[in-house]
Amino acid sequence: MPLSLRDSITQARTAGHLVEVRTPTDPHLEMARLIYGYDGRPVLFEDVSGFPGWRVLAGLASAREYFASALDVPVEGLIHRLAAALENPVAPAVTTDAPCQEVVEPDVDLACLPILRHFPFDGGPYVTAGIAVVDVPGYGPNVSFHRLLRLNQRHFAARVVEKRGTDTALRKSAGDLPVAVCIGNSLPVLLSASMSPQMGVNELAIANALAPLQVVQCKTVPLYVPADCELVLEGRLTHTTAPEGPFVDLTETMDFVRPGPVIEIDCITHRRDPIYQALLPGQLEHKLLMGMPKEPTIYAAVNQACRCTNVAITPGGASWLHAVVQIQKQGPDDGRVAIEAAFRGHGSLKHVVVVDTDVNPYDPAEVEWAIATRFQADRDLVVLADQPGSSLDPSGHHEPGKKGRTAKMGLDATMPWGADRTAFEKVRYATD
Ligand SMILES: Cc1cc2nc3c(=O)[nH]c(=O)nc-3n(C[C@H](O)[C@H](O)[C@H](O)COP(=O)(O)O)c2cc1C
Repeated sequence: MPLSLRDSITQARTAGHLVEVRTPTDPHLEMARLIYGYDGRPVLFEDVSGFPGWRVLAGLASAREYFASALDVPVEGLIHRLAAALENPVAPAVTTDAPCQEVVEPDVDLACLPILRHFPFDGGPYVTAGIAVVDVPGYGPNVSFHRLLRLNQRHFAARVVEKRGTDTALRKSAGDLPVAVCIGNSLPVLLSASMSPQMGVNELAIANALAPLQVVQCKTVPLYVPADCELVLEGRLTHTTAPEGPFVDLTETMDFVRPGPVIEIDCITHRRDPIYQALLPGQLEHKLLMGMPKEPTIYAAVNQACRCTNVAITPGGASWLHAVVQIQKQGPDDGRVAIEAAFRGHGSLKHVVVVDTDVNPYDPAEVEWAIATRFQADRDLVVLADQPGSSLDPSGHHEPGKKGRTAKMGLDATMPWGADRTAFEKVRYATD
């Protein structure tokens, strides 16, 4: 069954999760504060001050349960569903009749869009839930999130992390690079846009493997976008740069100002009654979308080394730097082997805890209990000095244009091999 943003809003309303705000709310500072107060729940603003005809939505992707119910799998099954889609992408069908093109704006004026300003000290109003479709010369389409600082009526400064799809495409293009920024996307499209499959794999084909998706050709650029999204900004990514930032990043700390490529917008299309989608930087939605797609890649890497049963990237570690890996131990060294494999599975991972199958990886108290009762630092700790690490960690060592350097740590909190299990297993009360 197709699964648009609107289908998920209906699901959230039926399940009683949706917060509907009917009083006039201002995208300038007020909306972000309210969304923050409801973090973990979808919020729909029906009356957007200064932007008649628009609604604003945030928080649709702010809990694992929302993805699980959209994809009709239990929470523990999400990792397998994502892995299957990543391994078996299916090209989406093309349509010529697309809701996202119901209205073609006669003029381009980015001030007409209810783009949120989050904090007074931000560089300006920021698009946070926009995904950019580009064509990488020699490879094909690439889809990726890019936060966009609105500069004026036609221009944004984009944050484009080096050496990933969009950056590669821009470097390979002598002139401007056609781009389509899509806003108001389904959960599968949001998830696939945050994946990094090998170059040449279209993320929209991964989204289509998660739930059927149709794409439509843009009006002014040779790119295909999800037909059922809410808003499309067609334009060109240029080689001109402008200061991008400051802005809050995934770690909930301030990211500094750096030059970002300027995007010039040539055409705006949208639905007749459009919903602008926003997400709060550093909060649950940002964290889940960043972290969840890395779980299958860690799972696959650990499974090559020993038997992995689950992986949870945890919000306390900014959903990027920390993971819990659950294994079915089959030999004395499996804990240590799993630590090394987990670091191979996600290059930005900094700390990992390995637990047995009787420990719930999503429950921080249970994981801490496993560390308390199964781990000895002089025996079970792995420390790796001066490793390539995440650009997002403020405590890492960073030099412009180079990959960050960091120390890494793994804790093997599994039961010692061959130990008497009754000494290590939790005694549980019957609950029925
Ligand atoms: C909510 C969210 C915001 C993101 N913002 C950015 C960003 O501003 N710039 C960027 O380069 N990557 C950003 N990312 C990460 C990219 O989407 C991610 O690197 C992408 O998967 C790269 O894919 P690629 O290797 O196929 O290009 C963001 C991810 C999420 C989930």
